[in-house]
Amino acid sequence: MVSPERPQQRPDAPHATLPEAAAPSDGGPIELGGLRSVGKAATVAGPAPTDAEAGVDPGSIYAQVGGEPTFRRLVAAFYAQVAEDPIMRPMYPEQDLGPAEDRLRLFLIQYFGGPTTYSQERGHPRLRMRHIPFAIDSAARDAWLRHMRLALDEVQLPPMYEAMMWDYFERAATAMVNTAG
Ligand code: HEM
Repeated sequence: MVSPERPQQRPDAPHATLPEAAAPSDGGPIELGGLRSVGKAATVAGPAPTDAEAGVDPGSIYAQVGGEPTFRRLVAAFYAQVAEDPIMRPMYPEQDLGPAEDRLRLFLIQYFGGPTTYSQERGHPRLRMRHIPFAIDSAARDAWLRHMRLALDEVQLPPMYEAMMWDYFERAATAMVNTAG
């Protein structure tokens, strides 16, 4: 069971509650900002935690198919097609598809057993609700699935995991349909 990492509480750090006004603003020897970051600097400035550090189950689909780089390739291949799709492309509110690509990648990583960054950043997925603003009919579902099918073919996963992921995609895409036609 992977539980989201909770921010470290430092009950022994009275400086953390000091009002900003109390901080020397002239770069004096005691800097509040510096004190605040004690014990956290490594987390903030250091490299992203490894999957093992993030508590990822090595038996998860996420780990078994190659972790983050695999999901990055899968979702990039998917979005390269969305960018050219006459039904799907106009649905995206943002001109830049990059942020939407990031959201889908983080969601799929979380869903298939990887780090839970998606929910830490976006909250509960509530996917169907998040898709209500877009009129998704069966043609849109078919387009989504066609792009994901080709993206899966491109990344070439072990057949068993590919089948499990495809099964999920078919069910999820059908569940997202909210408009007749
Ligand atoms: C069935 C056809 C689908 C269509 C036409 C569609 C279209 C869209 C659109 C237009 C957005 C908004 C872009 C944005 O993030 O700003 C979006 C968001 C998203 N979609 Fe889909 N989608 C479909 C199915 C799915 C499926 C099957 C999944 C998951 C397996 C999915 C996962 C997501 C996620 C994670 C987001 C971002 C949600 C958020 O955090 O705001 N979508 N989708």
